[in-house]
Order: sequence, then C-alpha cells, then structure tokens
Amino acid sequence: MRILRFDIVSIFPGMFESPFGDSIIQRAREEGLLDIRLHDLRDYSLNKHRKVDDSPFGGGVGMVMNVEPIARAITAIKEEVPETRTILLSPGGRPLDQKKAWELSRLPSLTLICGRYEGIDERIRLHYVDEEISIGDYVLTGGELPAMVLVEAISRLLPGVLGDPESVVEESFHDDLLEYPQYTRPRDYEGLKVPEILVSGDPKKIRDWQKAEALKKTAQVRPDLLEKNKRV
Ligand SMILES: C[S@@+](CC[C@H](N)C(=O)[O-])C[C@H]1O[C@@H](n2cnc3c(N)ncnc32)[C@H](O)[C@@H]1O
Repeated sequence: MRILRFDIVSIFPGMFESPFGDSIIQRAREEGLLDIRLHDLRDYSLNKHRKVDDSPFGGGVGMVMNVEPIARAITAIKEEVPETRTILLSPGGRPLDQKKAWELSRLPSLTLICGRYEGIDERIRLHYVDEEISIGDYVLTGGELPAMVLVEAISRLLPGVLGDPESVVEESFHDDLLEYPQYTRPRDYEGLKVPEILVSGDPKKIRDWQKAEALKKTAQVRPDLLEKNKRV
C-alpha cells in the first residue's frame, strides 16, 4: 500500500476541515492512503503578535507575506520529511493539468504553501520551493482553495482511493480527450431519448461511438488538446 503525505501551510488551516472531512478524501484518510497535516503559518512567526505580513519594499498596494515564517515552516517540514516536494500555489505558476496531477500522485510527500494578501516574498519562490503551480488564469484571495483542488486532483489517482480504478482512465483529459457524453435511466425522459446505440448491446459499436463523441466534443470545445497531440 502506498501512502501520500501532504503538509499544508496556511494562515487559515480551519478552512480545510470540511472538504477533507467528507467523501473520498475522508475515506482515503481513514484507510491510511492519505496523511494530511495542516500547519498554521502563524505558529512559525517570531513576532509577538504572530504577524506574517508586511508592506512591500518599493511601495504598492496591499501586504506581502514575510519570508521568515514560511521559510521556517518549510525547513521544519523538510527536517521531518526530507524527500518532500515543496509547491507554492500561485497564479504565476505553471497551470495544473491532469498530467501534472499524475506526476505528483507518484511522489511520497508534497508540501503545499498557501499565499494570501498580495502574495509572498519572492525569496521563498527563488530559494525554498521546488515548483509553483496555478489552478487557472484567474486570481483568488488565497492559496487554500487551490491547495484543496490540488489535493483532490492528486488523491483520486492514488491506487485504492476510488472504488473503480478504471474510471480514472476513462475520464476527461486522459489521452488529451474530453470525456464522451454519459446517460442513465430512464431511456426516455418526456421525449428526450438516450442515443439508440447505447442500448444496442453491441460493445464494439458503443466503444466506437464513445470515441467519436469524445473527439467531436474535444474538437468543438478544446481544439488545443487535439492540436497538442497532432490528431487534426
Ligand atoms: C490575491 S492572490 C495574489 C495575487 C498576486 N498579487 C498576483 O497578481 O499574482 C493571493 C494568493 O492566492 C493564491 N492564488 C490566487 N489565485 C491563484 C491561482 N489561480 N492559482 C493558485 N494560487 C492562487 C496564491 O497563493 C496567492 O499568493
């Protein structure tokens, strides 16, 4: 059995309780597949008011997170788990995709740093983190939601976390395709019918239809994915 350990550094560790205390993540934690540890960044502040931010050098709006508490948190985690990969959640990072989620799911330990305010002192990015990941081209108020997204995207790929391991290879982005359309009962809902082929009982025809639909949808919505693999 493989265990993935997450250490998450945030000024709002309480935000993680509900999303990590329900559903698949909770079950994976109970089964010992996931070991999630939350660290309150303020515990690493040497300031008597537990302050972790200050105004930016050179002026500008907002506050910047100090280097010291984050550096101390990362160092303390590394002492315990030297092999950990340290990731800074940031809109300036490399966009997260399914390939990256697979790559990270194979590692034993990940440390996630959640920013707030106007961001983090650049020395953290330059000297303390291994990579910087963005969850998309938009700006959120903090790195907590992006960290949750990353934990969820990675955890469901771990062996044993999802009931049916086949389901993860059938999903969108596998093979750079979006998923084909899915239907369930009833066959006819007020005249809205399920495609006949899906109830034909012919597995080969069904697979061909699913493949063609996946290609059609990807070409319509995400032609860049097809372009990537030179399918068009
Ligand atoms: C308000 S944002 C800082 C934005 C920064 N001033 C900029 O323009 O790039 C505060 C924190 O939220 C997190 N964050 C916001 N948007 C994000 C995104 N798209 N992906 C990952 N983290 C994000 C980061 O941890 C960031 O340090």
